[in-house]
Amino acid sequence: LAGLDAHDAPVVAESPPSAPSEPLTVLFGSQTGNAEGVAEQAAERARARGLEVELKDMASFGKQDLKQATRLMAVVSTQGDGDPPDSALGFYELLAGRKAPRLSDDHRFAVLGLGDASYEYFCESGKVLDSRLEALGAQRLCTRVDADVDYEETATQWVDATLEAFAALAESAAPTQASDAGGTAAATYSRSTPFQAEVLEMQPLNTEDSDKQTLHVELSLEESGLEYQPGDAVGIVPQNDPSYVDELLAALRLDGEAPFEEGRQLRDALLNDFEVTTLTRPFLNHWAEISDDAELRRLLDEESRDELREWLQGRHIIDVLEQFPVEGLEADTFIRALRKLPPRLYSIASSQAASPDEVHLTVAVVRYETHGRVRGGVATTYLADRVSPGDQVPIYIDHNKHFKLPDDDAAPIVMIGPGTGVAPFRAFLQEREARGASGDNWLFFGDRRRRSDFLYQAEWLQWRKMGLLTRLDVAFSRDQQDKVYVQDRLRERAATLYDWLQAGAYVFVCGDAERMAPDVHQALLDVIREQGGHDEEAAAEYLRDLQQQKRYQRDVY
Ligand code: 2AM
Repeated sequence: LAGLDAHDAPVVAESPPSAPSEPLTVLFGSQTGNAEGVAEQAAERARARGLEVELKDMASFGKQDLKQATRLMAVVSTQGDGDPPDSALGFYELLAGRKAPRLSDDHRFAVLGLGDASYEYFCESGKVLDSRLEALGAQRLCTRVDADVDYEETATQWVDATLEAFAALAESAAPTQASDAGGTAAATYSRSTPFQAEVLEMQPLNTEDSDKQTLHVELSLEESGLEYQPGDAVGIVPQNDPSYVDELLAALRLDGEAPFEEGRQLRDALLNDFEVTTLTRPFLNHWAEISDDAELRRLLDEESRDELREWLQGRHIIDVLEQFPVEGLEADTFIRALRKLPPRLYSIASSQAASPDEVHLTVAVVRYETHGRVRGGVATTYLADRVSPGDQVPIYIDHNKHFKLPDDDAAPIVMIGPGTGVAPFRAFLQEREARGASGDNWLFFGDRRRRSDFLYQAEWLQWRKMGLLTRLDVAFSRDQQDKVYVQDRLRERAATLYDWLQAGAYVFVCGDAERMAPDVHQALLDVIREQGGHDEEAAAEYLRDLQQQKRYQRDVY
């Protein structure tokens, strides 16, 4: 039993008869696999401690399951405006609805939320789960923990502390045999130990007169042993913009050359280790304390919520430093307010079946001006401005089980991907071509102008000509007076689209999460309602069913 010294361990023969110990349910709700990964880690560690464990996905966790889960450890991520993962929507409806089961204080639970502290509704689905379980009568065993984008350390601590608490509950159970923990994971590249990938190619995908800049980036995986599937993403470990870091140092009146930790300078740490642009609530709280500024404190009051949201628009860390300056600030005090620089994920635009030693990305370069300052996306300007072919970029593969081609090569697929959302569909078609998959393929693509923004145009047309791409519908929003978007094309093709769905088609949506994905979702509901002769409730049920069968998958950001 973990935690006991060998000579303290009770001899099995003398142990009291075991009270049947309750199995531990490790439940996850995951969009891209992070929460699932933490849950798997928790289950593994729990088993190593001799606990009986069931690993469960919210995607198929019903009322009876919840009633039986008297020892519950749950990990759930939050999307965009505080929503649970797609696959967990049904479970959240159950929790909130009148059919939710009554639980008792025999039910013990602990919740870990994953999220992004730069969003207003940080870890909302974790908070909702935590409070609903309590409201239903269950007893909280450990305080909820909300983990930010650099969640690994926090998650591991939560797993250990929570398992400790559950193990203590199970104390009366019979001693279990010491498990032979160990078995090191195969060495592979990760966000903490990325692979240095050489940049092979970097090509603009828009013509020069476009008001967008999208890059096609090819990276070498040679000698890495890295493998990916279409639908996976690449994590890029970027470096901050040196000129921005200099501005920051000047605003703080700090010396970039000053030693920071073991032989490193402050400037180097700010360049490589910390997020120095995006504002998070923890940063603002920290800064309010450091600056003791009454106006900033007022902005952070609960009553100023709307005003704060407005004020945050287009503002970064440097704007806060300038507006609420602090005299005699020490480097450490500033650093403590920052979070680690999170890697940026890009959906992979290639298939290893076509390019075994390469990975391709489609990157929209983010540049804009707000409050009198030119701003840029950290990783996108890093790639566009500070990296060239021949240079190395630190990367790792971020596997996404929830955005995958059907195993059945004969199954039809519908791909909806405006802008850079089209990236994974290039990978899908390369893969289906290499596999000789017979299933029909339909792509909906949209961007601003056909002439300047038709990303990978030649490739789609070639595949169309070959017959691999069965149908291609495009929506160029700014080529005419009125905006035309992919969802308008979905509606125009309603009858055919519904036929495809009835024939077992898989639907994939990739791209903007804030407006595009909900609009496309609504268009799909409308198509199903009208073409299937369903009412609203039945159309929603139809789409939920597709989701459950993994025939409606989204990779939105
Ligand atoms: P717009 O910029 O002209 O409004 C890729 O960015 C394409 O997605 C662009 O043509 C963009 O159009 C379009 N787009 C903007 N909002 C959208 C939405 N809500 N749904 C679908 N496409 C959208």
